Amino acid sequence: MTKHASYSKGEKYNSLSKKEGFRSRAAYKLIQIQKQNKIIKVGDKVLDIGSSPGGWSQVVSNILGDSGSIIAIDVLPMKKIKNVNFFQIDLKDIHKINLNKVSIVLSDIAPNISGVSIIDTENMKSLLEIEISIVDNFLKIGGKYLCKCFEGDSMNFLKNELKNRFRKIKRIKPDASRSTSKECYILGIDKL
Ligand SMILES: C[S@@+](CC[C@H](N)C(=O)[O-])C[C@H]1O[C@@H](n2cnc3c(N)ncnc32)[C@H](O)[C@@H]1O
Repeated sequence: MTKHASYSKGEKYNSLSKKEGFRSRAAYKLIQIQKQNKIIKVGDKVLDIGSSPGGWSQVVSNILGDSGSIIAIDVLPMKKIKNVNFFQIDLKDIHKINLNKVSIVLSDIAPNISGVSIIDTENMKSLLEIEISIVDNFLKIGGKYLCKCFEGDSMNFLKNELKNRFRKIKRIKPDASRSTSKECYILGIDKL
């Protein structure tokens, strides 16, 4: 796909999100992942990390309705979404909230990009390390973990960490993710 085609795709999802009332085009990444993998089910208890402006939380809220629960965290503010319990907090301070066990951990978190590859990779790995400790301590056995990463060092690090923690791991590149971007998602299925 040409760069132009990829940007047109980005614009397609931007205008679709406005039309359909989603706060971000990122919502379509989760919609597409959900369509193919059925990761979220009625009654789930979901933790949404890096949730602002709220596209993913909206998608989860639509699926769960009044069932289950959703906790969302972001360092930036997020406007209210039905049935979403939002905390404006840095991921590294997550121990400050009273977290109970969840059945799904979702993360679309992305650190500020400096452009210096070694720094960006280290920043991403530091966030992933915190998430992995959340998975170890707060994700139920049999639970699922969906996490954004970038092709290369951070993806390899994540896959390596998850391979002994989940029965199955899968790399996913949803159509709504720009093909020119190294962004992809790793899904851990069935926590051991
Ligand atoms: C790509 S956006 C998430 C979009 C969201 N999934 C949606 O659908 O609207 C990534 C988010 O990660 C958040 N973030 C980055 N570093 C963070 C940190 N250390 N703690 C908490 N949130 C962080 C950013 O503030 C940003 O809102």
